[in-house]
Amino acid sequence: MPTKLKIIALFSLLWLGAAAQKHIGTETTEQKQKRMQWWTDSRFGMFIHWGLYSLPARHEWVRNYEHITNEQYQKYFDVYNPDLFNPKAWAKEAKAAGMKYAVLTTKHHEGFCLFDSKYTDYKATNTGAKRDLVREYVDAYRAEGLKVGFYYSLIDWHHPDFPIDDLHPHRPAGDFDSATYAKVNKGRDIAKYRQYLKNQVRELLTNYGKIDILWLDFSYPGDRYGKGREQWGSVELLKMIRELQPGIIVDDRLDLKEYTDGYDFVTPEQVSPKELEAYKGKTWETCQTFSGSWGYYRDENTWKTHRQLLELLITSVSNGGNLILNVGPTARGEFDYRATNALDSLAYWMHGNNKAIYNCTYAPAVYTTPANTLLTYNAAAKRLYVHLLQYPNGKLVLPGYAGKIKYAQFLHDDSELLFKPDEANPADLVVTLPERKPNYEIPVVELVLP
Ligand code: GLC
Repeated sequence: MPTKLKIIALFSLLWLGAAAQKHIGTETTEQKQKRMQWWTDSRFGMFIHWGLYSLPARHEWVRNYEHITNEQYQKYFDVYNPDLFNPKAWAKEAKAAGMKYAVLTTKHHEGFCLFDSKYTDYKATNTGAKRDLVREYVDAYRAEGLKVGFYYSLIDWHHPDFPIDDLHPHRPAGDFDSATYAKVNKGRDIAKYRQYLKNQVRELLTNYGKIDILWLDFSYPGDRYGKGREQWGSVELLKMIRELQPGIIVDDRLDLKEYTDGYDFVTPEQVSPKELEAYKGKTWETCQTFSGSWGYYRDENTWKTHRQLLELLITSVSNGGNLILNVGPTARGEFDYRATNALDSLAYWMHGNNKAIYNCTYAPAVYTTPANTLLTYNAAAKRLYVHLLQYPNGKLVLPGYAGKIKYAQFLHDDSELLFKPDEANPADLVVTLPERKPNYEIPVVELVLP
């Protein structure tokens, strides 16, 4: 190839490389890993969806589903009075359940602010609550030693400048063509809304001390008059966020996926344990509800069982990710008894088995997953954890584990489990288990590695 062509080829390669590596800041991969270490070690957090929608108690999207106008929705603002709100009790429940961080909806799509924003009157201080609920949440969770996160909805169905799109409660019935779009949006100015959202994020990241996580939700660019990085001003917003809170961890819903540092983690929502396998190797957190809704939904009865919740948690860790489990408190400010029961059961399991969750990830490939189990692994402690999804009859076969473990015990009580090579197939080890299943829905065998 002539030199001139070679130079052109080289420059094109460099250019392509740079395009694939688009970034906003200058942080290295190592620096990012360090910044996120506490979060990846934690593995388990609490999501809290709380707002005016806990009064209708039929989904936080009730405004969208039922086409409720601002005027019609006003009755909830007028009657809101969370007299039983006690975030210290919430924080204690979260901590007991083994959760290490929390994320609260400071504003959801309905636009109502739980915090005392100077940019709106549509806020908790002007309701029966008469105070800044976000501040009390921050103080309470911090006092329990939990990391504190804010969810903030990019979408706002109450703000007069937020353009009406296909998701908006005020969307017109029938054909939503461009002429109708222009007509219903006359006077609405997205630039003003963009400024409002930026101002509020600044307030949230300035007035409450160190904030560990920011969960922005969500982008839907393209068709249906959707919104994304242009409408939100995402690049500028993210720059401001990182400037105000350099250590903060930010989710991936700002529509900045083409930047390597446009987000810190991906957010598979309400996916099955099976689907989580696809995220191995990424930095991720799956967000999940106890039942079908995020906000308090009185008549929703498809609550996940203790077993399903455990499987979600263990499957997340065994694929190298986090689980953030959502509670939708009632309008009076309490966790519903179903949520409390679920958290109590998790607390019992975590008390005995949390070493198989914290600081853990997927197992090295040399350890095959035994039948009907899930593996988690703590590299620093040199421990492999075998989660017994089905309690085996008297023995557990570890395929190809000969020479690869030093010692075995139950995790919840450190009681020894004897093992020996399988007579027919000496590469396999056979662990003798007691007849009676330990009193945990999913017992864990702890293997000490050489
Ligand atoms: C969705 C929903 C929302 C919920 C969120 C949590 O995007 O709009 O109601 O807050 O997911 O992941």
